[in-house]
Amino acid sequence: VCSLSRKAEGVGRPGDDLDLFCVPNHYVEDLEKVFIPHGLILDRTEKLARDVMGDMGGHHIVALRVLKAGYTFFADLLDYVKALSRNSDRFFKSYCNDQSTGAVKVLGGDNLSTLAGKNILIVEDIIDFGKTMQIFLSLVQQHNPKMVEVASLLVKRTPRSIGYRLDFDGFEIPDKFVIGYALDCNEYFRDLNHVCVISETGKAKYKSEAE
Ligand code: HPA
Ligand code: MG
Repeated sequence: VCSLSRKAEGVGRPGDDLDLFCVPNHYVEDLEKVFIPHGLILDRTEKLARDVMGDMGGHHIVALRVLKAGYTFFADLLDYVKALSRNSDRFFKSYCNDQSTGAVKVLGGDNLSTLAGKNILIVEDIIDFGKTMQIFLSLVQQHNPKMVEVASLLVKRTPRSIGYRLDFDGFEIPDKFVIGYALDCNEYFRDLNHVCVISETGKAKYKSEAE
């Protein structure tokens, strides 16, 4: 049913797979297909967490979420990272004096001066144009971090995107508007746990963002 590859082409034929997974009834008309089922997202995220720890786990990791990105991927990725750090000698030694804050610090505000000397992980849910990320990267670089890496659950294959290195990418997807899991459309679809392709009906209904 599912082509297991980082290039997610989606499962089944259009429409078919909506029967294979639980989707909220109120969205059935709004979806063309289930693109990446929730379980697969979690499995891939667990591996991304392991890759992150392999690259960055020898030092304090500060995870930054790009504002307006969905919280789901960020939370799931960090849960896996934290679980790995609890089970790793090497990492525990680095952090045993830092019980109060835990292994991974999450900043919400603008206190970017604390980034100096740290390993910074920037977490996005989807990279499309890549422009926001480039601006964000240069902002972070100004604060003299030890290392900056970027993780995104999805990256779109689009001629529009301006290239820069993405260190941890979950799935490469075609240039279609997707929703669900971490991705909303005008705040809708947050209660959908699979990444799905929106249907024409869905586009018309929640139009302003789906273009
Ligand atoms: N879906 C939701 N948000 C987005 C997308 C998408 O396909 N691309 C960029 N932001
Ligand atoms: Mg977004």
